[in-house]
Amino acid sequence: MTLSPGRWYVTRPTDPRVYTLEPTLVSVRSDSPHPPRYVHVQTFGCQMNVYDTDRIFQALEPLNYTPTDDPARANLILLNTCSVRDKAEQKMMSQLGRLAPLKEYNDDLVLGVAGCVAQQEGERLLKKVPYLDLVFGPDHVQELPKLLERVRSDEGRVSETTFFKRKNYEFIEAKPRESAEKVSEFVTIMKGCDKVCTFCIVPFTRGREVSKSRELIVKEVENLVEVGVKEVTLLGQNVNSYGKDKDREVHFDELLRAVDEIEGLERVRFTTSHPMDCTDGLIDCFGELRTLAEYFHLPVQSGSDRVLEAMRRHYTIDHYRDRVARLRERAPDIALSTDIIVGFPGETEEEFEETMALLREVRYDSIFAFKYSPRPGTKASEMEDTVPEPDKTRRLDQVLKLQNQITAEKMQTYTGKTLEVLVEGPSRSVDKGQSHEWQMMGRTRTNVIVNFRVPMGDFWNNRLKGELIKVRIDEAKAHSLYGQVVA
Ligand code: 5AD
Ligand code: SF4
Repeated sequence: MTLSPGRWYVTRPTDPRVYTLEPTLVSVRSDSPHPPRYVHVQTFGCQMNVYDTDRIFQALEPLNYTPTDDPARANLILLNTCSVRDKAEQKMMSQLGRLAPLKEYNDDLVLGVAGCVAQQEGERLLKKVPYLDLVFGPDHVQELPKLLERVRSDEGRVSETTFFKRKNYEFIEAKPRESAEKVSEFVTIMKGCDKVCTFCIVPFTRGREVSKSRELIVKEVENLVEVGVKEVTLLGQNVNSYGKDKDREVHFDELLRAVDEIEGLERVRFTTSHPMDCTDGLIDCFGELRTLAEYFHLPVQSGSDRVLEAMRRHYTIDHYRDRVARLRERAPDIALSTDIIVGFPGETEEEFEETMALLREVRYDSIFAFKYSPRPGTKASEMEDTVPEPDKTRRLDQVLKLQNQITAEKMQTYTGKTLEVLVEGPSRSVDKGQSHEWQMMGRTRTNVIVNFRVPMGDFWNNRLKGELIKVRIDEAKAHSLYGQVVA
């Protein structure tokens, strides 16, 4: 079928044997010299990849590509991958296998891998997966149109994983996708990581730190606010070292102050932080800046000083304790979360118990816990992986069980309180027999999900989305709260 500009079409998946999806209405841009095409991206891993996926869409827009959820309709399928742990990588490989039949069916289809696995594997991935057309690392998102041209030329299969030199790396202004109608968005403020944590592959896949200019960050946040965004999360592997590569012309806390002045912006969050670079200047922003929400993700990784040294984290548990104490002094209600690795090479039972003790002491609101997994090229992968798999599994279970109990106790403390909630939208409809209601969801400043009900209808949806409202909490479940609107 030939599509003509300016008309609406009902399209069907090209291969119903592989994917059975509902037909969807699509519009065809009338002002593009390029034929309409579709791109399907599956995103794995961290928020940085979510942000990069949006940049992929942005880079392809001039070529008249529209994002689609339906891989069978796509002319281009990309997996934006994560290699931080082995499991994420395996997940991506099995997904590639599932997509392979589409290549047989559609000669025009380009299948590519982006993100951290692409950076790590490069040419090797092309050799391993014969039906793959394109592999490119995170530094090359902006060049995607050129890479596609190369794939479609005689050159054929392409792998592009060179890193730009720090001084040559340029950030392109991120354009908001108005159609996304998001209340909360990510803004990358830097790329790469200059730390050398021995377990971590990120410095190899994302390269050296480069900070985006303060002016560009402020501009990007302003652009988002203009299309209705009320909350931004500033992203980087270690945002606390923002500006270090530019001789600290602007410190991270100064950047927070600049963003805080943006009119119409309600909340700011940031991730991730390194305890070593978590300065008093940054901590003092809590309770002082209007927009800075009381939530801090501060990965500790282990409760043992010996393990921290082997991980080359460059801090002790006493230093970490001091940071937490100061944060809680500044913002008593601040929610804290962390990352934990169990079963790092050489971790003894006693050292693991130190991690358990730290969890009992700090009482985080939530944690992300992982079994250590050796990553290629890292220092730790040269160490003997001494903790047997069943012990890693047991330690992970113990950590999660303890934390579930702490989280449940913390969630209970919200009941009866009236909290400020930023409404994100309806989460489901509720059939009440005679009438229907929307269950709406939003988040507290401490990043906890709150559900509440309103009468069904566009009126409530449009009126409340993006609003700050007060909700009285009646019930706390494992990961979310339920309440009633009071104002
Ligand atoms: N094994 C297990 N967990 C890891 N992380 C990073 N590398 C590894 C690894 N090799 C975890 C850390 C980090 C989070 C993003 O992922 O806890 O903070
Ligand atoms: Fe990895 Fe450490 Fe950098 Fe975090 S700070 S991205 S754990 S090297």
